[in-house]
Amino acid sequence: MPPLQEFLALAGAIAPEHRYRTVYDTDFSVLVPGKEPIDADTLASFARIGFAGRTVVDLGCNFGFFTFQASRLGAASVLGVDRESRVLEGCELLKRHFNIAGVTFERHDLDDGQSPLLSRRFDIAMLVEFIGKTFVVENRVAPALAFLERLSQRELVVSVQKIYWISKELRTTPQRLKALYPARYVSGGDFLLLEYVRDFFDPRWRMEALSPMGEGYEKPRKFLRFTPA
Ligand SMILES: C[S@@+](CC[C@H](N)C(=O)[O-])C[C@H]1O[C@@H](n2cnc3c(N)ncnc32)[C@H](O)[C@@H]1O
Repeated sequence: MPPLQEFLALAGAIAPEHRYRTVYDTDFSVLVPGKEPIDADTLASFARIGFAGRTVVDLGCNFGFFTFQASRLGAASVLGVDRESRVLEGCELLKRHFNIAGVTFERHDLDDGQSPLLSRRFDIAMLVEFIGKTFVVENRVAPALAFLERLSQRELVVSVQKIYWISKELRTTPQRLKALYPARYVSGGDFLLLEYVRDFFDPRWRMEALSPMGEGYEKPRKFLRFTPA
C-alpha cells in the first residue's frame, strides 16, 4: 500500500486526542483535519528561525508538521520526538510520502528525567505548542522548559500563548495559581505565561519574539527564540 494510504488509515484509527495538528500535503492541501490548523502568520514566524545547516530536535512533534518544515527550511538534520508510538508510525509514513531525507523520529518521554535523549545536543531545540493550559494548571511548565534547555547550548525555540484568562480559559482561580507561582505572574484575572517563560531562562538566555507582539492578551501562540545571554 502507498505510504499515504497507509497513513490515512492509521490517522483514521488513532484516538482523536492524538490528532492535534492538521496534516497537510506538500501543496498544503489538508490530508487529515486536526484541532489546530496552520496559518500564514505562524508559517512566517517559524520561517524566521535560521535552520540552514543546523541540527534540530522538535519535542512533542505530533505528526511532525514543524519537524518536516524545519527540514524544508534547510536544516541539516531534524529529530522529531513524541511519546505516542502510533503517532510516530504516522510520522514515518509521512516521511516516506514526502520523500524527505535528514528527518528521523524517536520515542521519548519528556517526563522521564533519565531519558537518553538528555545526553544529546542539538544546534536548535524546539518546544512548539507543547505548553498549554493543563501544563499551567498542573505546574508542569518549568520541568518541560528544563528538559528543553538541556538539549541545546545555542538556540531554544518555544511557542506559548502570552496570557491565559484564569477563570475562562484555565478554569481555576488567581488564589490557586498564586499557591503554585510567584504572585507577579498572576495579574488580576490573567496568568502571564510568556513572562514566566522569559524569566525561567533569564539570565542564562536572552529572549527574542519571532512573532509580531501587541499589548495585552493575544491569540494565537507566539514563537520565542532564546539565545545565550
Ligand atoms: C499539543 S501537541 C503539539 C504538536 C506539535 N508540536 C505541533 O505544534 O504541531 C503535543 C504533542 O506532544 C506529545 N507529548 C505530550 N506529552 C509528552 C511527553 N511527556 N513526552 C513526549 N511527548 C509528549 C503528544 O503526544 C502530542 O503529540
